[in-house]
Amino acid sequence: MKILGIETSCDETGVAVYSESEGLVSELLYSQIRLHKEFGGIIPELASRDHAQRLAGMTQKVLEQADLKMIDIDGIAYTLGPGLIGALLVGTSFASSLALKYEKKLLPVHHMEGHLFAPFIKQDIEYPFIALLVSGGHSLLVLVKSFKDYTVIGRSIDDAVGECFDKVARMLDLEYPGGPEIDRLAKMGNSDQYKFPRPLLHDGLNFSFSGLKTAVRYQVEKLNDQGFLLEDYIHDICASFQEAAIESLHHKCVKACNEFSVGNLIISGGVAANTRLRALFSESKNLNVIFPEFKLCTDNGAMIAYAGYLNFINNVTMDDIYSPRPRWDLNQLCKESSLDG
Ligand code: KG4
Ligand code: ZN
Repeated sequence: MKILGIETSCDETGVAVYSESEGLVSELLYSQIRLHKEFGGIIPELASRDHAQRLAGMTQKVLEQADLKMIDIDGIAYTLGPGLIGALLVGTSFASSLALKYEKKLLPVHHMEGHLFAPFIKQDIEYPFIALLVSGGHSLLVLVKSFKDYTVIGRSIDDAVGECFDKVARMLDLEYPGGPEIDRLAKMGNSDQYKFPRPLLHDGLNFSFSGLKTAVRYQVEKLNDQGFLLEDYIHDICASFQEAAIESLHHKCVKACNEFSVGNLIISGGVAANTRLRALFSESKNLNVIFPEFKLCTDNGAMIAYAGYLNFINNVTMDDIYSPRPRWDLNQLCKESSLDG
């Protein structure tokens, strides 16, 4: 069985083929970062147009790379949501047209379910596990008992952690997306130099990052007022901010695993590429921490193809699969998915 996966929820066009017998056989990823960089963030209309221009060519190339034709494909998986409405519409229309033309099964995928299972493209799943899903739009802690049995047990009450990295990076005149830049600069800084808050640390399983962002803003303003140059403090600010953000995530994950007596922790989504996060979590005793490969942390077509494959073999059906869902709660996905086809 072979599934074509199409990801267009944000600023990456991802196309891939997952094969039941051979794993990931072909993948292509185009990042629109250069397109949006000059604006310091994503311009939704530009994102949609760029997805529309690239999808057909990339799909053809992905198939050629794997020496496949549409006739060899069993199902077409695509991101139905959450994400930017225009970008989702492009992917949904493209996948639906292909499915109609070649009479293939259409497999709508929840973008966060894609991130959730990304580590398992290369290794087997052992339930139950807790998943920390950290991206530009989400910070979720999810208890996963089995396929389609997900309970969101914690989430950010304000900014997502990736969003917070991006906003702090902007304060420091770093290019978009800020996460990788902060990660790089933090390696040359002292994380004890500035004491930033770890909000909600002793309060349930939810996260909060906007207070941390504001604390960094005040510190940067203070340093500027005192006449310091950006180059004098940027490394220490990055290291101290990153440590506060990562420690908050780590603390809640350990708490969640203890509370639910679960030893397996999956960490996925763009921020899972952070080197300090990977180091800190890897030191955690009593926890079996699993990350996707680096390239599968951020958005990609492979995770959509794989989640589509899981939906296919579990005979998942869903209503209203042609209307993109810019907002789509993960808890809702489980309620509306029927497993018996
Ligand atoms: O999962 P993703 O590619 O897209 C969304 O679904 O949002 O995540 C993108 C986010 C951005 O906020 C980016 O700054 C962040 O992931 N990110 C990082 C790193 N690489 C990407 N944050 C911290 N450290 C990194 N190395
Ligand atoms: Zn994502």
